[in-house]
Amino acid sequence: MTVMRKPVVAGNWKMYKCGDEAAMLAEAVARGASPLSPSVDTVICPPFPALVRVAGVLRSGSVALGAQNMHWENEGAYTGEVAPPMLVDAGCRYVILGHSERRTCFHETDQIVNRKTHAAMAAGLVPIVCVGETLEERETGKTRKVIETQVAGSLKGIGTDLSGIIVAYEPVWAIGTGLTATPEQAQEVHAFIRICLEKIDNRAAAQKTRILYGGSVKPANAGDLFRQPDIDGGLIGGAALDAETFLAVVKAAVV
Ligand code: PGA
Repeated sequence: MTVMRKPVVAGNWKMYKCGDEAAMLAEAVARGASPLSPSVDTVICPPFPALVRVAGVLRSGSVALGAQNMHWENEGAYTGEVAPPMLVDAGCRYVILGHSERRTCFHETDQIVNRKTHAAMAAGLVPIVCVGETLEERETGKTRKVIETQVAGSLKGIGTDLSGIIVAYEPVWAIGTGLTATPEQAQEVHAFIRICLEKIDNRAAAQKTRILYGGSVKPANAGDLFRQPDIDGGLIGGAALDAETFLAVVKAAVV
């Protein structure tokens, strides 16, 4: 039985755009994505200081707001951190967790990502949990082992809540490098992630979970990637910083 999964395209703005620039980009994305909203969920994830301003622009609801990270506690003496209820208060419905830049630059482990995933779900946010292998891991045949460890570790104890999460497969070697996994390479890992999800929950839940591909997705390669049976949309970095380019990627996810 084929399960229909509504595609999701999420723009990860990273440490770019604030103020008027952020508002203008969000407005243009919302305008373009509105007619597509029955067929694809569009999400934009600006930096923290732009969240409230962008939430105001997205009031019509055709594009959802997400954050790029959060702490796992609801409050406390954690200088510089942002708590899940603060993201909800700012208008977020999604949060990216365990991005490879967080894992590499800020030493986030699967255990930390797991705490954040639980906290996001408790706050009513949809976590977009990122996993992916480095070039060295791929070249030494460790891709499956790395992915299995990251999926199991990041989603430990999620149990029957699997339907409330999104997984993003982002090979580290493809992020911001212009190198993209071929549709076949990406599909192979996505199908494997779905098997890993089955072990965490069950087949039906794994079939319903949306798995996004990320890593140098552009209008030119998005269609071929999104047409793969286990690729349910994308997590887009560089190509999300220009409305026209991002909207072309969103359109490519419309089946
Ligand atoms: P990229 O980034 O599209 O610029 O490769 C993707 C990501 O890091 O989420």
